[in-house]
Amino acid sequence: MLEIKKELTQNPKKKPAKGDKLGFGNIYTDHMLIIDWTEGKGWHDARIVPYAPLSIDPAAMVLHYAMESFEGLKAYRTADGSVQLFRPEKNAARMINTNKRMCLPYLEVEDFVQAVKEIVKVEKDWVPSDEGTSLYIRPFVFADEPHLGVRTATSHKFIIICSPVGAYYESGLDPVKIYVEDEYVRATPGGTGFTKCGGNYAGSLAGQVKAHDLGYEQVLWLDGVERKYVEEVGSMNCFFKIDGTIYTAPCVGTVLPGVTRMSCIELLKKWGYKVSEDRLAITDLIQAYKDGKLEEVFGTGTAAVISPVGELRYEDEVCKINDGKIGEVTQKLYDTITGIQWGKLPDDMNWITKI
Ligand code: COI
Repeated sequence: MLEIKKELTQNPKKKPAKGDKLGFGNIYTDHMLIIDWTEGKGWHDARIVPYAPLSIDPAAMVLHYAMESFEGLKAYRTADGSVQLFRPEKNAARMINTNKRMCLPYLEVEDFVQAVKEIVKVEKDWVPSDEGTSLYIRPFVFADEPHLGVRTATSHKFIIICSPVGAYYESGLDPVKIYVEDEYVRATPGGTGFTKCGGNYAGSLAGQVKAHDLGYEQVLWLDGVERKYVEEVGSMNCFFKIDGTIYTAPCVGTVLPGVTRMSCIELLKKWGYKVSEDRLAITDLIQAYKDGKLEEVFGTGTAAVISPVGELRYEDEVCKINDGKIGEVTQKLYDTITGIQWGKLPDDMNWITKI
């Protein structure tokens, strides 16, 4: 159990008004939670303090060697005004796996969840209530020791910041267009593809810029060895419904184990769908499209929620999926997951943590 000191702001900021367009990741709340980690001492000095720029040594190892990791989860306002979290213990567990791979210190699951709950309690008036909005919670860890040799660091910080958000994509629930990247790769076996480290995202930007230039919103990555099997989209896991079966890439080290991905698989299996986590070759996917068997494609993620994909381009092949409309299973997953998150549906799966 953490002992968290609180120093509350004397100058609260103006909160967005009902109906304001929030976008994603543009506005920050009044406070942040910080915990220091020092070698030999472990985690110490947990505190909630006014949100402010950090003072960081220019030699801090994170700035040179990308020694950092992050998580993303949301707090939702329900119709009765209460606030709730969706499976925060899964984010905590994923950060442990990430940080072990990245040689960063990690909080135990109970301490991570306690830290999230405490900052959300302090910022509960920042949780927006418009349809489709939430408070995005961004925990992150980084090495702040000033040192230029490449080795593990002796001091780190764990910080949580919060941001009221709307839809991740400007298009909201309108299907997104995705470009299948066959030049750059995102992850290879034995690498860091399964972790939520900033470097994975930095390395993906060249592909994203290329896709944007071609008129696509996101990149679908292929495996890094053969560039043959579909893996994931930059900020989402990806699902394909082919002839009744729902495929998604296996989490075998190169794919991020998404909390929304896991929740969709659990729901789909409960509803009786056949779910395959076997590898799916891009050529088989294109063939399924040509045979009229590619029924739905959608992405899943905390930020992106459930996002229908309306178009996929691989080399010169352009696949228009489900006439550019959201598919039946995609819609059902969206309604169920968001229904549980915003408390409109009963929490049959035991996924909710009340604040
Ligand atoms: C999330 O879905 O929480 C993410 O971390 C994706 C992000 C890179 C925007």
